[in-house]
Amino acid sequence: MNKALRQVIIAGNWKMNKTRPEAKALIEQLKPVAAKASCGVVICVPFTNLETAVELTKGTNIKVGAQNCHFEKSGAFTGEVSADMLKEIGAEYVIIGHSERRQYFGETDVTVNKRTKAALEAGLKVILCVGELLTEREQGVTEEIVGLQTKIALLGVTKEQLKNVVIAYEPVWAIGTGKTATAEQANEVCSYIRGIIAKLYDKAAADGITIQYGGSMNPKNAEELLAQPDVDGGLIGGASLKAEDFGVLLDAASK
Ligand code: PGA
Repeated sequence: MNKALRQVIIAGNWKMNKTRPEAKALIEQLKPVAAKASCGVVICVPFTNLETAVELTKGTNIKVGAQNCHFEKSGAFTGEVSADMLKEIGAEYVIIGHSERRQYFGETDVTVNKRTKAALEAGLKVILCVGELLTEREQGVTEEIVGLQTKIALLGVTKEQLKNVVIAYEPVWAIGTGKTATAEQANEVCSYIRGIIAKLYDKAAADGITIQYGGSMNPKNAEELLAQPDVDGGLIGGASLKAEDFGVLLDAASK
């Protein structure tokens, strides 16, 4: 598998952090840091910061994303935001199926599939999250779980649409815990996912798809993780909230 065939992307997942003034300040700090990067740079901000982020990043290499979207186009879904609304406001990416959505908000593989299709149909790029729980890793079923999540999420997604999908492999036990998967563990599962893509689509699709690792990636471990042949960037929580840390990750991904 040839890493040169695909884009390395570092995406920040701000989660439920940053008021508008705080977001403005962070984006201003990120601009010069991101300008040096040769990898793709994305920030996935809370809904309330989308307009600000789109405005402030115009003419820069920073792309803006949301952290979720609903699968229906409109209607009586109190508290939800549609893919068309995100597209219209200028978002380019949306994270779908993050483990926190699965864990706290009843997200299932089936709703992840619906959201993925709705986002792609609206013209958004999807950062699709998959990953096993600690118990699942301990039971030796990581590949089965991640394989199932990937296959169900991509049901009905065409090969053409797949070009707008990034997969983020995020072992749930490594998210926000400070416990990182070893570089070998991360590569093993990213490579396994690439094999699934080859089976579902073909080798060209598998070679071309960006597969990120996420889960406590930080300035200390980024270089080793990103040097792995099947790890094409990262989805970054904690370390995306400080421009300096995010900058180190962008440097590591730009090598
Ligand atoms: P973390 O979060 O980097 O804080 O572990 C990653 C994520 O949830 O995407």
